[in-house]
Amino acid sequence: MPKPARPIPATLVPGDGIGPEITTAVVAILAAAGTPFAWERQAGGQAALRRHGDPLPRALLDSIRRTGLALKGPLETPVGGGFRSVNVRLREEFGLYANLRPVRTLIPGGRYDDIDIVLVRENVEGLYLAWEHYLAIDDDPHAVAISSGVNTRAGSRRIARYAFDYAVRHRRKKVTIVHKANVLKALTGIFLETAREEGKRYAGRLEVNDRIVDACAMQLVLNPWQYDLIVTTNLFGDILSDLLAGLVGGLGMAPGANIGERASIFEAVHGSAPDIAGSGIANPTALLLAACLMLEHVGQRARATSIRKALDRTLREDGVRTKDLGGDASTKQFTRALIRRLG
Ligand code: NAI
Repeated sequence: MPKPARPIPATLVPGDGIGPEITTAVVAILAAAGTPFAWERQAGGQAALRRHGDPLPRALLDSIRRTGLALKGPLETPVGGGFRSVNVRLREEFGLYANLRPVRTLIPGGRYDDIDIVLVRENVEGLYLAWEHYLAIDDDPHAVAISSGVNTRAGSRRIARYAFDYAVRHRRKKVTIVHKANVLKALTGIFLETAREEGKRYAGRLEVNDRIVDACAMQLVLNPWQYDLIVTTNLFGDILSDLLAGLVGGLGMAPGANIGERASIFEAVHGSAPDIAGSGIANPTALLLAACLMLEHVGQRARATSIRKALDRTLREDGVRTKDLGGDASTKQFTRALIRRLG
């Protein structure tokens, strides 16, 4: 085990539904692994809405502003009532321009074995600006729908650099730029052109190629092993990251990181699972893997690796699995088994 590090302040948002159960499990595992986080615990989601009238209260935002680092459980966006998605608000507030979604086969014997692919998605530009409107014709107010996408040279350069630097740091060999520049010649052409240009700076360290998004989707199904790290625009990244999760058995085990200029936020990809909340059977794996990304982000790669190894052994060798993975372990039993493997 690496020697103890200086405490790193970090915001912890347990969140809604199964959020408190899985964050308790993850915090216990991180403590057992000797990780350096000094947690600032903050309410968000429904609990915060009840207490402060806002699912993203000021105290939470101030805490993330201070620490620049957060581990976040799932937050429910109240339906109706004029609330904007909490995730969109966080993205804007902290300039979370990169969405990092690594997928890796955790349990062998599924449809695809030995998958290990990282997707880096541009998170603040493109068609997801949702600059949309309708035009009325005659008595049809929705006769025409118009949406404007915006990609900038600066935004494309920023995400490309993040992806290439990440690839080098994590000893990836190949980066594939995914686009649709044959049709959307300006919108995704600028992204392709800029990313290719940036890629030249990594010659000798990384192989860089590019693919049209539809071809990439087909190849990911036929032969995903040819991909190592994919960097792409917002909409394509949204779709392909779920496709990738499907290769390793669904969203349930997928971690995500939102990397920003002013802060970075780490979370599970799944939601608050209200159907099983409080029953003690939630699987903390995705949030734990998100915490591993957070450890790497703060330069604690050895600790992240030892947690991932313990997780692999718990799932594969000990066969201790929660119900969603076909096992019968409770969250607590799974957590205890994993902590034993750390020791
Ligand atoms: P969900 O991901 O919460 O649940 C889908 C299914 O997967 C359910 O059957 C659930 O029991 C199961 N599941 C999810 N995570 C699990 C885990 N860790 N262990 C065992 N089983 C698990 O998706 P749903 O039901 O569409 O969303 C519920 C709420 O979560 C909504 O209010 C939504 O807004 C919110 N949400 C929040 C996200 C975030 O904060 N990043 C992301 C996605 C949804």
